[in-house]
Amino acid sequence: MTISTTASNTIMSTTSAGEGSVGLSTTASAPDGRRAELPLDMLERFRARAGQLDQANDYFHEDLDELRAFGYLRAAVPDHLGGWGLDLAQVSASQRRLARYAPAVHQANVLEPIGLEAGRFESVALAHVLHCLPGTMRSKARVFEHVQPLLKPGGIFFGSTVLAAGVRHTAFSRRVMRSLNRKGVFSNADDDLQTLTRALEASFTDVRVEVRGTVALFEARRGS
Ligand SMILES: C[S@@+](CC[C@H](N)C(=O)[O-])C[C@H]1O[C@@H](n2cnc3c(N)ncnc32)[C@H](O)[C@@H]1O
Repeated sequence: MTISTTASNTIMSTTSAGEGSVGLSTTASAPDGRRAELPLDMLERFRARAGQLDQANDYFHEDLDELRAFGYLRAAVPDHLGGWGLDLAQVSASQRRLARYAPAVHQANVLEPIGLEAGRFESVALAHVLHCLPGTMRSKARVFEHVQPLLKPGGIFFGSTVLAAGVRHTAFSRRVMRSLNRKGVFSNADDDLQTLTRALEASFTDVRVEVRGTVALFEARRGS
């Protein structure tokens, strides 16, 4: 899922890997000879702090200080420039492992109720997801019903989606979009400004939708 929030709590799509599948037990070495993986005791300290950070919506200063001191911010920098020289797959594996201990990531299907505490977020963004969800605007609109309770009263929901109807596509973009709709990558054939606005208004107040080219930029507020 790709909802992100302004709080330290970020909801976004990610792929979690079990500890067993973490691929960073590599031979890559930090400049001082340490193995280039984050030590378990450090990760356990992150885990111990995570709950409180999440509750207080605080920034992870202490974790970041530890990561910096360990040299982790240079993990993707090539060896000859003083980094650890990890490749993309190694960095990704390391990041997934880190996310398991300091979880600021929540993976969810937005077509189902999202298992997060109600009334917790000041804002939620849904960027370029709506046109990828299967169904019509009417059926897709349940994502709005799932997001709305997560917001604090007065909280802002904003995002973007590609419209197919009532906007001017180029011949090329219309062809591509039709093909993506046929393949089920997009499902926006009937999405237009009016259906989007109505769907937002069913769950939110102060709905504003602006169309730029073929993209609708929306913002709306949870009523108090
Ligand atoms: C076009 S990408 C946009 C990614 C990102 N928000 C951006 O703006 O770059 C669409 C995203 O929607 C996510 N997505 C599609 N269906 C979803 C669902 N049912 N629940 C949660 N996320 C979904 C996909 O995983 C993908 O990351």
